[in-house]
Amino acid sequence: MASSRPVKLMSLPSPLLLVLVLMLTSLAKAQRLTETITEFYLQDLASGSNATVIPITGIKNKPLSFTSFGTIFALDDPITVTPDKSSTEIGRAQGIMVASSLSGSNVHVSMSFAFSNGSSLEIQGTSRQFERYKELSVVSGTGNFRYARGYATLESIYYDNRTSYSIIRCTTRIILS
Ligand SMILES: *[C@@H]1O[C@H](CO)[C@@H](O)[C@H](O)[C@H]1NC(C)=O
Ligand SMILES: *[C@@H]1O[C@H](CO)[C@@H](O)[C@H](O)[C@H]1NC(C)=O
Ligand SMILES: *[C@@H]1O[C@H](CO)[C@@H](O)[C@H](O)[C@H]1NC(C)=O
Repeated sequence: MASSRPVKLMSLPSPLLLVLVLMLTSLAKAQRLTETITEFYLQDLASGSNATVIPITGIKNKPLSFTSFGTIFALDDPITVTPDKSSTEIGRAQGIMVASSLSGSNVHVSMSFAFSNGSSLEIQGTSRQFERYKELSVVSGTGNFRYARGYATLESIYYDNRTSYSIIRCTTRIILS
């Protein structure tokens, strides 16, 4: 009973063969997945009546800021094709941010890149705000980006401390299943 018999491929029972074929095809499919890299810019204004990022609430008797634990912001930044704020707007970065570390270093981000053409990417993660490059996850998408996954790096390339205006370069690297 226990002695192993040599098995020839052709004598494999057909369900096993089918599983083998399915495994090989999904393997081949996995190797075809390609990374799509896209770069665009967020126009982020944190002051004045036209602010695109605004603190909504926070912990009582604490200041509302990115370094004050518990502060929650709403965000609606224009997404443009070049750093120039008058360049073509291709969508909006909309969502919420929460000052999420007691030490004041990290901000939790949960936002959508809502593109004007109807497609969107869901962005989520911790923004280590004192690092030059912030890396966030791309967790899903809609339209052209259904089943998307990957990551986005954000880097401030311009900051005007008088008006709290920043231009942020965003590079997304995604794989569509
Ligand atoms: C807000 O935007 C409007 C329309 O672009 C502009 O006329 C106004 O001067 C802006 N206000 C401030 C405070 O920048
Ligand atoms: C929609 O816009 C995004 C961002 O510019 C682009 O990557 C995508 O290919 C466009 N087309 C569709 C059908 O989503
Ligand atoms: C902006 O930066 C300059 C130079 O670092 C500084 O002197 C000034 O006080 C800052 N202004 C604001 C509003 O923070």
